[in-house]
Amino acid sequence: MSLPAGFVDELRSRLSLAEVVARKVTWDARKTNTGKGDYWAPCPFHQEKTASFHVDDRKGFYYCFGCHAKGDAIGFVRESENMGFMDAIKLLAAEAGMPVPAADPREAKRAKKRAGLVEVMEMAVRHYRLQLNTAAAQGARAYLEQRGMSAAMIEQFEIGFAPDTRGNLFSYLKDKDIPPEQMIEAGLCIAPDSGGQPFDRFRGRIMFPIRDQRGRAIAFGGRAMDPNARAKYLNSPETPLFDKGRNLYNLGPARAAAGKADALIVAEGYMDVIALVQAGFGHAVAPLGTAITQNQLHLMWRVTPEPVIALDGDSAGLRAAIRLIDVVLPLLEPGKSLRFCMMPQGVDPDDLIKASGAAAMQALLDKAQPLVDLLWQRETEGKVFDSPDRKAMLDASLKAALAKIEHPDIRNHYNAAIRDKRRALFSSQRPGKKFTPWRKNAPALANPETKASLLARAGNGIEAEARIRESAILLGCLNHPEIAQMLEDRLEHLPFICADLHHIANAMLGELHRITTRDAMVDHIAHAINDDPIAKLTAIGQVRDNPHLRPDADPELARKAIEVDMARQQAILGVMNEVREAEELAQESPDEGLTWRLDQARIAEREADSGGITEEDNSEIEAEAQRKLQAFIDQKIWEKKK
Ligand code: UTP
Ligand code: MN
Repeated sequence: MSLPAGFVDELRSRLSLAEVVARKVTWDARKTNTGKGDYWAPCPFHQEKTASFHVDDRKGFYYCFGCHAKGDAIGFVRESENMGFMDAIKLLAAEAGMPVPAADPREAKRAKKRAGLVEVMEMAVRHYRLQLNTAAAQGARAYLEQRGMSAAMIEQFEIGFAPDTRGNLFSYLKDKDIPPEQMIEAGLCIAPDSGGQPFDRFRGRIMFPIRDQRGRAIAFGGRAMDPNARAKYLNSPETPLFDKGRNLYNLGPARAAAGKADALIVAEGYMDVIALVQAGFGHAVAPLGTAITQNQLHLMWRVTPEPVIALDGDSAGLRAAIRLIDVVLPLLEPGKSLRFCMMPQGVDPDDLIKASGAAAMQALLDKAQPLVDLLWQRETEGKVFDSPDRKAMLDASLKAALAKIEHPDIRNHYNAAIRDKRRALFSSQRPGKKFTPWRKNAPALANPETKASLLARAGNGIEAEARIRESAILLGCLNHPEIAQMLEDRLEHLPFICADLHHIANAMLGELHRITTRDAMVDHIAHAINDDPIAKLTAIGQVRDNPHLRPDADPELARKAIEVDMARQQAILGVMNEVREAEELAQESPDEGLTWRLDQARIAEREADSGGITEEDNSEIEAEAQRKLQAFIDQKIWEKKK
């Protein structure tokens, strides 16, 4: 909707920002100088005890020296009330006694429609509540009692009941002259595909009204009474009122309660929220049957800088927490983070409170872990880092996660925290003479720039040697498709230095299950790279002349030859990665780290993986990698002297 030119400016000039803000804050009498239009208060946008929030009433502008929130009166209302632009304008215009100019007719129509739907929703809330007192709801009342929900909570959360009939709500609303289209649009009734009379969406369910921050009824959650029901919880569909990713159950009341508690608990379900509130944790919210969204995180941060996520202690809850990490990392800012409260296995807050009481819940909340701990746990739990490959793999995944953090200061702090944890972990893992099976993953030299710079420094020697190994591996695989299939996993995760050979590997992997003969595979790859793969792979005499790689070679020996080269490739690139890490660490903090990391690299190297290869082969590989590492170290020292 467009407003006439000058209207907003006129509105701004008529308003006192200090007056608008005063409804949300208490001015700091010591710092404030009303005569100068200079106002100070604790910031309403972040949690603080000092007054770093400044209002310049003459300019109509605010700025917080703590969280850098800034804006004018319209911005302030939008932020503090979580309103859209037009709603803020309307509110402020009413305050300033200015009539808002004629609205866009379409917007006016939409607003009217929404108002109409809200009324219908309120009727449904009332109707369902009354139904809870009927004889038909006897089972529902018994169920609520058995779940321990107090009468006060039933009242406060306006719990209702939808009887198990098709037209209970429909007839009620029809008697009130509500057009069926509205019932459908509000998500309360469903039009049968076959045409005919709409029927109730919610049947045989305990009803939880969902209200938005301003207290308007926008949706319902319905819990099935029947344990065999298709969905335990059925929620309203998306409607003009309800966007499930942009609301939280109990947000309005929780916000009021959170002010005192200085916290916000995020549980998984309606029942958890109610149990928490009943136990005295008024500051509890829940998402609405979906994973927590970015928008919901912003809603939480308006309440408190560090909401505590208390997801169920089951695998689904854990998965949800793990997914949430990726959602939240890019949004982190000073004053915007999360904590995670780990519920015991198979227990949700509702269960815990019932079994052990509010104090037990509080104890768990007090032990909530910072986000960085959960991130670390996610990347390391259940894994063993006893080889350069595995360490490199961990580093790669940590790096990828940390790169998601957009805020530079936060990223630095996370980097530092993760580095400490990493150091503690790796130094606690003493090397042992152990031959572990191959892991799927290889050292990740994922980033082409890293690769390029490493190669540049390493000179052509490394690439030339890698070309020999990579050619040998691919030639063997090409001449023995059945071995390629057996080694598919490892081939897939093998780091390649030579881009042209990597193309061949990818072309081969892409069709490995469809093409089973050597000649067909050669044709396929020739087509894919527009070149003769055999000629390319046999360009190096050492590879061409290796009898074990020929099509007629003994498959056992062929396989072994391929595996040895794979192990070598893996080990050497693992070392390169370790050295790169050491160099990065040395750059960040010159005094510590380098020697330590190089030591670690040596130790790690000694443990290079060996799958299916004899110890003899392995020591050969080790020796070679060791030589490589020494060369790297020497070079490093040489660079330093320069
Ligand atoms: P849970 O299955 O953990 O249920 O689902 P709960 O909250 O512990 O419920 P009770 O204690 O058995 O009554 C957690 C949340 O996931 C959503 C609901 O929001 C629920 O509260 N959910 C679950 C659905 O939307 N649909 C379902 O079928 C199940
Ligand atoms: Mn439960």
